[in-house]
Amino acid sequence: MRTYLVTGGAGFIGSNYIHYMFEKYGEEIRIINVDKLTYAGNLENLKDVEGRENYTFVKADICDSEKINQIFAENDIDRVVHFAAESHVDRSIKNPTVFVETNVLGTLVMLNAAKAAWELPDGTYKEDKKFLHVSTDEVYGSLEEDGGYFYETTPYAPHSPYSASKASSDMLVKAYMDTYKFPANITNCSNNYGPYQFPEKLIPLIINNALHGKKLPVYGDGKNVRDWLYVMDHAKGIDMVQEKGRLFETYNIGGHNEKQNIQIIHIILDTLQEMLPEGDPRKELVSEKLITYVEDRKGHDRRYAIAPDKIKEEVGWYPETMFEDGIRLTIQWFFEHEDWMEHVTSGDYQKYYQEMYQDK
Ligand code: NAD
Ligand code: TYD
Repeated sequence: MRTYLVTGGAGFIGSNYIHYMFEKYGEEIRIINVDKLTYAGNLENLKDVEGRENYTFVKADICDSEKINQIFAENDIDRVVHFAAESHVDRSIKNPTVFVETNVLGTLVMLNAAKAAWELPDGTYKEDKKFLHVSTDEVYGSLEEDGGYFYETTPYAPHSPYSASKASSDMLVKAYMDTYKFPANITNCSNNYGPYQFPEKLIPLIINNALHGKKLPVYGDGKNVRDWLYVMDHAKGIDMVQEKGRLFETYNIGGHNEKQNIQIIHIILDTLQEMLPEGDPRKELVSEKLITYVEDRKGHDRRYAIAPDKIKEEVGWYPETMFEDGIRLTIQWFFEHEDWMEHVTSGDYQKYYQEMYQDK
């Protein structure tokens, strides 16, 4: 029975990954989820797994090396899947410090703890131990509108404090692989969407605002391009890289679903209209009139796009969920989880929302 240490499992992608893994492996694996429960961590995301005997939640900060070492000492960890991070670009522009603390120093703590637990006296490692560092395509910087794709060989050129902190953490993982032959992989994924995404990110924010007849803020000219991936495809890719990928390699995850932000907003509005039943009062609220162009994000990257050739060739992964299907699944999930949205949009999120948008 393999034991997984998942960091940041109460967040958006981490919680989807935990669901994916229990669906796939059932009782064959054990998962220990370590999460600090910041504003982005929500245990409601894991309600349906919390009663499992092979699941444990530990509330801890990944920067707390004593606590992280203790978890490794008390458990024979086989796999680390490291999601925990501050993940929102706009927040990183307002307050970069916590991004360096969690994303850079926290990753260093995780690397040191895993290395100490797994390394043998001769400098090799216990058999079949693996660390996977979950990262982003934003480390590669920005592409021209008609200018190519991100490959694993694309030089790093981060622009935001968020992407700079993720790039730094990737570099540390690379350094541990090169210097200590530390058994790891890095995945750099494009923008995710799906259930449990916190409504400060574009897609859940637009769905939630549209359903409440609130303005839909579009940064700049709305023509920035992101390469959107359904979160369960990402979860599957992470597992496939960890089990089938070559150690010490980086794999880009994403692919060929590039859309301008304004296109995304129109698709959401059209799909909401289609899916809301006749007579539902929200049908009146959902309207293109809500679209509001606001001041652009500082240093706003123009385009991200992944060429997923390596992961396809070496691991057999490809993006399975078409955007048209994924967005319907996501909207359906939000329809069925109104209480989840109410809980996350109260309190901290509201304060944050006002701070970010009151002047726009
Ligand atoms: P998220 O913000 O939804 O979740 C992050 C989780 O980490 C939360 O549960 C939070 O409580 C936890 N966390 C934050 N600081 C912590 C700390 N110091 N100690 C322990 N836990 C802490 O983020 P997400 O969108 O699920 O992203 C997860 C990972 O995937 C991140 O590393 C991110 O860089 C990467 N990624 C995200 C995307 C995307 O589109 N969301 C795309 C590619 C890569
Ligand atoms: P976001 O979901 O924050 O992801 P990232 O910045 O990591 O790509 O934003 C996706 C795109 O949507 C990005 O180009 C910024 C834009 N955006 C808006 O136009 N309005 C918004 O309210 C938000 C949150 C994002």
